[in-house]
Amino acid sequence: MLSFNRTRTQPRTNRSMSLGGLDYADPKKKSNVLGKVLMLASVFALCIFMLKRSPTLNTPSPFSHFEDGVTHVLVTGGAGYIGSHAALRLLKDSYRVTIVDNLSRGNLGAIKVLQELFPEPGRLQFIYADLGDPKAVNKIFLENAFDAVMHFAAVAYVGESTLDPLKYYHNITSNTLGLLEAMAIHGVKTLIYSSTCATYGEPEKMPITEETPQNPINPYGKAKKMAEDIILDFHKNSDMSIMILRYFNVIGSDPEGRLGEAPRPELREHGRISGACFDAARGIIPGLKVRGTDYKTEDGTCIRDYIDVTDLVDAHVKALEKAEIGKVGIYNVGTGKGRSVKEFVDACKKATGVDLKVDYLPRRPGDYAEVYSDPTKIRQELNWTATHTDLLESLKIAWRWQKAHLNGYSTSSIATRANI
Ligand SMILES: NC(=O)c1ccc[n+]([C@@H]2O[C@H](COP(=O)([O-])OP(=O)(O)OC[C@H]3O[C@@H](n4cnc5c(N)ncnc54)[C@H](O)[C@@H]3O)[C@@H](O)[C@H]2O)c1
Repeated sequence: MLSFNRTRTQPRTNRSMSLGGLDYADPKKKSNVLGKVLMLASVFALCIFMLKRSPTLNTPSPFSHFEDGVTHVLVTGGAGYIGSHAALRLLKDSYRVTIVDNLSRGNLGAIKVLQELFPEPGRLQFIYADLGDPKAVNKIFLENAFDAVMHFAAVAYVGESTLDPLKYYHNITSNTLGLLEAMAIHGVKTLIYSSTCATYGEPEKMPITEETPQNPINPYGKAKKMAEDIILDFHKNSDMSIMILRYFNVIGSDPEGRLGEAPRPELREHGRISGACFDAARGIIPGLKVRGTDYKTEDGTCIRDYIDVTDLVDAHVKALEKAEIGKVGIYNVGTGKGRSVKEFVDACKKATGVDLKVDYLPRRPGDYAEVYSDPTKIRQELNWTATHTDLLESLKIAWRWQKAHLNGYSTSSIATRANI
């Protein structure tokens, strides 16, 4: 880096004297000034030369301007599980993608996979930034020409949210507000928002429709609902196009084995059922704990709606395609079919080929017996239906990736062991 530390060698009064309107210049000083001028001129010339050689000056970044026929999508949280799968699908469908992620929970390895698959200029760029930093967010919008935003970035564990609620309100609610402000300032009009069935809380009636009242019971669900409310309030006086997708329980991974789910090991205890199943199959945890066998369900265990990530990202693309200026769409994204925890555990045993040890324990307070979606609205309005509904198949695909990536995306992790 060049530095210009000007040092003053003489007091200002000695440098030149004004005599009755005429400037008297000291000749020694004159050569000093001349030297400095020459030096400045050469540094200036060097800067111009370097700038001219800079690729960004010669060819402006394709991400910085709009291009006919190309839709540029900002994918927040694109280094994470769902965001990376969405980015892959968008890239496959010829979208231009910018991923913003602070890598607090996501994986650089996922970004590398995507970059290797789509190395051509103007396809994919990754920006390492925190959505909680308004200056960074503003700079991203200033320097890039986005057509739409898919906002996945979030901390997303119900259990963790009860232990550290403020983190959730900051990361989910406040960051969504900041993102929305940046979109408004920079005229980006389409938002596809990742919401969750946790915003419904414990509805009395099943299945859950989009009209089911939202009464979230934990900070995660509340933070997501607040973010939804902010988006909807803002929309009332804007011409934005909003799609809110409320996902049910997401499972599976890329059928071609390029991406998978690789949560931070330290978050394992908060993790989801498929993570626990794979960890048990790998012997990382001693077995599975099924909490509650006396619910009013067919086999006594809880019922959930498991949606494959491939179907989920398809719903995002359909939502983006159907987004209309000035309109809001709110959709449940689920299969519409509830599966019991016992069914899930059996499928997990089959998928992994491991006879997992299962402890059946008393109910966990706050767990609700049945949660499954009514996906009629999304089928009718977006022409979307879940097609990867074979639980065993989804788990087999995810397990294949897990087996091949024993330490997640870390390069040293590619499994050579064949014993699992
Ligand atoms: N996984 C599910 O079952 C499920 C269900 C319903 C809704 N969702 C929602 O889907 C979205 C994605 O979830 P996921 O399972 O892929 O989680 P994930 O943790 O795998 O991915 C989230 C990504 O966001 C990034 N991120 C978090 N805070 C950030 C910040 N301040 N700035 C920049 N990046 C940040 C993380 O680094 C990570 O890469 C979340 O909004 C979540 O609430 C997930």
